[in-house]
Amino acid sequence: MLKNDLLLRVARGEKVERTPVWLMRQAGRILPEYREVRAKMGGFKELVENPEFACEVSIQPVDHLGVDAAIIFSDILVIPQAMGLPYQMIEKQGPWFENTIQSAADIERMVVAEADGVRYTIDAIAMTKKELDGRVPLIGFAGAPWTIFSYMIEGSGSKTFSKAKKFLYTEPVLAHKLLEKITLSTINYLKGQIEAGANIVQVFDSWAGILSAEQYKEFALPYIARICDAINDVPVTVFAKGAYFVRKELGELNCETIGVDWNMDITESRSLIGSTKTLQGNMDPCLLYSEDEVIVAKTKEMLQAFGPNRHIANLGHGIYPDIDPKKVKLFVDTVKEFRPSDF
Ligand code: CP3
Repeated sequence: MLKNDLLLRVARGEKVERTPVWLMRQAGRILPEYREVRAKMGGFKELVENPEFACEVSIQPVDHLGVDAAIIFSDILVIPQAMGLPYQMIEKQGPWFENTIQSAADIERMVVAEADGVRYTIDAIAMTKKELDGRVPLIGFAGAPWTIFSYMIEGSGSKTFSKAKKFLYTEPVLAHKLLEKITLSTINYLKGQIEAGANIVQVFDSWAGILSAEQYKEFALPYIARICDAINDVPVTVFAKGAYFVRKELGELNCETIGVDWNMDITESRSLIGSTKTLQGNMDPCLLYSEDEVIVAKTKEMLQAFGPNRHIANLGHGIYPDIDPKKVKLFVDTVKEFRPSDF
């Protein structure tokens, strides 16, 4: 039994006492407590692949920030690795793949991953669920097929992901083959996470915004739809960063919650997405560099615009590593102190 199940009730569209709040990338980015453990443990990958550590870091934001959910400490790139394309995390630079996908033969070599291929995260989920002891729900996650595809083609982060986009234009049949394998792997992985105890899962389409609407509808949305259709036991959140151009279509997915970023107007998003979805977001993370008064005022403004119910307060994308945890706590507390009578 969960002592605080606000997030799950809101996701299912039930009436709630107050708006729940958590932050994308809350685990392992801003807290000095995380840096301490990380310094002892060595590289990022070692941490992700160590369930005890992942468990500890996932719970830190619940203890220190008072958020209404924990998200499991892992990365979206565990899926390419489980499919046969290992990644490295280069200090101060980000992900890097020694091999990338270039040809039909490369795609042929990729396996459809089972959840067991990401055993460390599955174990970390089971351990975190136990340690949380019902304090708050645990969020599982995976990258959306298009975002995972772009890393597998590109081999690293990129401003334009032009190699990945080029592949869509020049090798559409092969692109669909790889997207299909990623989708099946992601479904297996998310099902494994749910079996291990994840109470809700989020699909991160971080590079949605670099596709045209036409490409998004051909190469991204249908695969997200398949994931949503395959997950029935827990609520699903779809966060397609920058995909303002398909909000209506996102509203038609078989999922409970849609993430909105700070470029998406709240009222317009609600009307495009419709009233049957919960919305999650959408504060600009950079607001948290502001003076306290500004943070409080803007957070209240955001809550007013979303209204009570059907809203999970969050940022419009992941929090930045150099944001002061005190400012984050102020954002969290402002949401938690806001009552229905304040709307
Ligand atoms: O939300 C959480 O706090 C849980 C953990 C989590 C991480 N990555 C840990 C991480 C989650 C949900 C992710 C998702 C992820 N990873 C996404 C989608 C969300 C988004 O931000 O758009 C993407 C695109 C990645 C790929 C990735 N991982 C990049 C580009 C980088 C380098 C830059 C960065 O974000 O720091 C990572 C590394 C990474 N993933 C870190 C953490 C805590 C930093 C590693 C370190 O300690 O040096």
